[in-house]
Amino acid sequence: MDLIEAIRNRRTTNGPFKPDPVSKAHQHLLIEAASRAPSHFNSQPWRFILIEDSDIRQKIAAIGGRTMTQLFAEGRFFRRYRKYFRFSQQEMEEKQDGIYIDTMPGPLRPFIKQVFNEKALGLLNTLGVPKLLGNDNQKLVANSPLLLAALLTKEEYVPDDLSGFYCLLSLGMAIENIWLMTTGLGMGIQFVSTPMEIPEAWQEINDLLKVPPELELMAVYRLGYLPDEKEKVRPRIDWQSKQRRTISRLAFRDTCERSEE
Ligand SMILES: Cc1cc2nc3c(=O)[nH]c(=O)nc-3n(C[C@H](O)[C@H](O)[C@H](O)COP(=O)(O)O)c2cc1C
Repeated sequence: MDLIEAIRNRRTTNGPFKPDPVSKAHQHLLIEAASRAPSHFNSQPWRFILIEDSDIRQKIAAIGGRTMTQLFAEGRFFRRYRKYFRFSQQEMEEKQDGIYIDTMPGPLRPFIKQVFNEKALGLLNTLGVPKLLGNDNQKLVANSPLLLAALLTKEEYVPDDLSGFYCLLSLGMAIENIWLMTTGLGMGIQFVSTPMEIPEAWQEINDLLKVPPELELMAVYRLGYLPDEKEKVRPRIDWQSKQRRTISRLAFRDTCERSEE
């Protein structure tokens, strides 16, 4: 696959993967891709955990589902992320960013805009939406054949220091390499991010993965092979975010006073 083709096709996978295990050769290619990323002074401050153990995956999935339900039920998710939600293709094209919530169960559709609004929290809870989302997410994670944890060495990662910033840049680049590599291998990848938003839940994942004091757990992903196009299933509440800003809304020429045309 051409590099630009891989970059253009790289996507977040919201739906389920095939149940097939990810081959060891592919797992190692993902880690090699990460290791080829640039890092300050070639420090390679990243570490990864390849998680295939079913018991650990089930436990992480349960934490993911529970935290998603909690964040939605308490309205924390909406408060924090409301500004990114779009409800029509037209809105996507105007704003050129955010995520377009284009899939919803029938009963929710009439309230599509209000439902993602704090005032409608009671309605959402009455309809059982947080539980539905949490249960669906738990299944998605549990049925992903591979989870991948990304960590940084604390020797390098000092959050208030310049090295902390360098580490975040470096890890971002390593993860992008993994993400691109999944595209080349017919795989998909998605953040398992809700546990990060609740410190006690994040600690539970640290404990499950036996993360030692010298490492900082930064992120967890779920991965697997993509089903064939006709077998792809979309989650009951789903979004897409293919839209990108046009060059003139992204880049300047020479100084910030002149947009690139
Ligand atoms: C720092 C960061 C956090 C993200 N968190 C989540 C997340 O919690 N759940 C999720 O499904 N996707 C998450 N994503 C993926 C973005 O939503 C996605 O990259 C964006 O909408 C563009 O879509 P695309 O990756 O399909 O091009 C995250 C991406 C980044 C870089």
